[in-house]
Amino acid sequence: MSLESRLKSFRGRIEDYLDSKLPREDTAPERLHAAMRYAVLGGGKRVRPALLYLTGEALGVPAERLDAPAAAVEIIHAYSLVHDDLPAMDDDDLRRGRPTCHRAFDEATAILAGDALQILAFELLSADTAMVDDPHNRMAIIRELASASGTAGMAGGQAIDLWVQGRDPDITTLENMHALKTGALINASVLMAAWSADTPDPTVLDALGRFGKAIGLAFQIQDDILDIEGDTETLGKTAGADSARDKPTYPSVAGLEQARRRAAELCDEAIRALSILGESAVPLRQMAAYIVRRDS
Ligand code: IPE
Ligand code: IPE
Ligand code: MG
Ligand code: MG
Ligand code: MG
Repeated sequence: MSLESRLKSFRGRIEDYLDSKLPREDTAPERLHAAMRYAVLGGGKRVRPALLYLTGEALGVPAERLDAPAAAVEIIHAYSLVHDDLPAMDDDDLRRGRPTCHRAFDEATAILAGDALQILAFELLSADTAMVDDPHNRMAIIRELASASGTAGMAGGQAIDLWVQGRDPDITTLENMHALKTGALINASVLMAAWSADTPDPTVLDALGRFGKAIGLAFQIQDDILDIEGDTETLGKTAGADSARDKPTYPSVAGLEQARRRAAELCDEAIRALSILGESAVPLRQMAAYIVRRDS
């Protein structure tokens, strides 16, 4: 099966699951529930769930074990987008081809939708019965997602993103910001699947950690490149928004050529990290390539 058809089938699977776990719009508080569903169910590539399912496949982990972790990381990601788009942050009007959550609803509702989504992710991880049995593994899964979401991950990276505005960050600062704001949740997706095996192998965890870090950083570099090279229609978000706001990005600091080179280098690094996994990791290697060649 091609990577594209696998991605499509994982998208279908996770969207059905998310739909079943999100609070219903006809229960109170209706407006908050509607905003949560709008933020999560309105399109998106579902790259993080796909990484969970593909890593699970490579390790022989049954897909049912991965539904809750895949939903949890996608929900955290969706919440991060809602807050990222707020006027106090990137002030964007378009997301996944539709008005951003605060535009479709209002700012206060968007803030609350983010808050409620964040906690829903952890509720799913604490309550799901199909996840790996061993409580030690489940705690590790919760810990991976928590640390990737907090100050050592997405929220910390977003704080650096705000801090660098109007400054002239060097490439090390920028790579750190990218690794935290975006890389951490991508890496956590891979590691949550690894912790879903009955007995996670430390060598495999280490290799997957190196893979996850490399593709995580590459993902944000490509996101920055697409802000320059992509078009609004394909992206589903406003092209050129970074430069319009004078945001330091990988291409603005290192140049477009160097950004492309670095993304390609990280893709190779990611693929090399998987050498111990052999044939079972072919789709994961294809995923690394997809991350740096995608156009949306
Ligand atoms: C966009 O993420 C924000 C970043 C972290 C770079 P995606 O490119 O995965 O967005 P969706 O989920 O497909 O909309
Ligand atoms: C997003 O970075 C990182 C998040 C943690 C949400 P961007 O601000 O570049 O993401 P887009 O381009 O708005 O999707
Ligand atoms: Mg941002
Ligand atoms: Mg943004
Ligand atoms: Mg961007």
